[in-house]
Amino acid sequence: MINVALFGSGRMGRAITRTLADCKDMKLVLVFTAPGTPDVGKDMGVLAGLPSGENGVIIQEATDVAQKLKKSKVNVAVDFTEASAATANMTAAASAGCSLVIGTTGFTPEQRKAIEDAVAKNNVGAVISPNFSVGVNVFWKLLEEAAKKLPSYDVEIVEAHHKFKKDAPSGTAMKSAEVIAKALGRDLKTSAVYGRQGLSPRKTEDIAILAVRGGDIVGDHTAYYITVGERIEITHRAHGREAFASGIPPATRYITKNKGTHTMADVLNLN
Ligand SMILES: NC(=O)c1ccc[n+]([C@@H]2O[C@H](COP(=O)([O-])OP(=O)(O)OC[C@H]3O[C@@H](n4cnc5c(N)ncnc54)[C@H](O)[C@@H]3O)[C@@H](O)[C@H]2O)c1
Repeated sequence: MINVALFGSGRMGRAITRTLADCKDMKLVLVFTAPGTPDVGKDMGVLAGLPSGENGVIIQEATDVAQKLKKSKVNVAVDFTEASAATANMTAAASAGCSLVIGTTGFTPEQRKAIEDAVAKNNVGAVISPNFSVGVNVFWKLLEEAAKKLPSYDVEIVEAHHKFKKDAPSGTAMKSAEVIAKALGRDLKTSAVYGRQGLSPRKTEDIAILAVRGGDIVGDHTAYYITVGERIEITHRAHGREAFASGIPPATRYITKNKGTHTMADVLNLN
């Protein structure tokens, strides 16, 4: 049995709770949320709307995390919170000997390095991915292939998400831009364009990443490959958060057997 601790009781935390409830080989033993927030003290099964109602896992404040993880003999810590919280909590979880499954987005390079250093130092494993859906991981492969075949086409990436999303552009859009930049031999630091206003002529090497926010859009991503006379559009649309949550059980199983930092492409054997 794999003992799982979940960090984040929000939209994704609830979807993951529903997914884990159907897995016979893993057990949700702890749920942490932001200190002082209304979910503290509630039953996670009720909050997630499990058909069985209560699951007996009472949501706790994320304090003294390493100690609580050790006490509950947690094997894998799953994080869907926000970048600074995830950096603090996941480095603490690694120090407690837990392997990590991290879906939180918006990390700075320094935050990402701090997590990877903690994974290496404590000899644990981590799957870190801005998108755990199978479809998006295949979408990234298609983007790479299209970029290689269409090196002279103008590339623009447009993402759309619900109005509560905090970071922009999405982690999935940023990873899409990284995949395309790598395939084209470009440096994303100099080729990324995040918006246009006023005089802004397009440079050949530009890779634009544009964000739309509104309503309850779960997550749409389109990469445009455009030339004079035609264009290709490759689109992924998530219909529901189950698309992301469904990647958590395979990633959790994978990381109990593999040390070091991995991606969902490793889990899905897409490399
Ligand atoms: N990788 C993927 O497949 C994927 C898919 C969807 C969303 N995401 C990302 O997951 C993250 C969460 O998304 P969401 O829609 O569930 O957000 P949300 O705002 O609904 O939930 C965030 C949760 O994090 C908790 N939190 C904040 N600070 C915390 C702390 N210090 N300790 C513990 N918990 C803390 C909040 O209390 C809340 O429960 C975002 O970064 C989002 O971009 C990733």
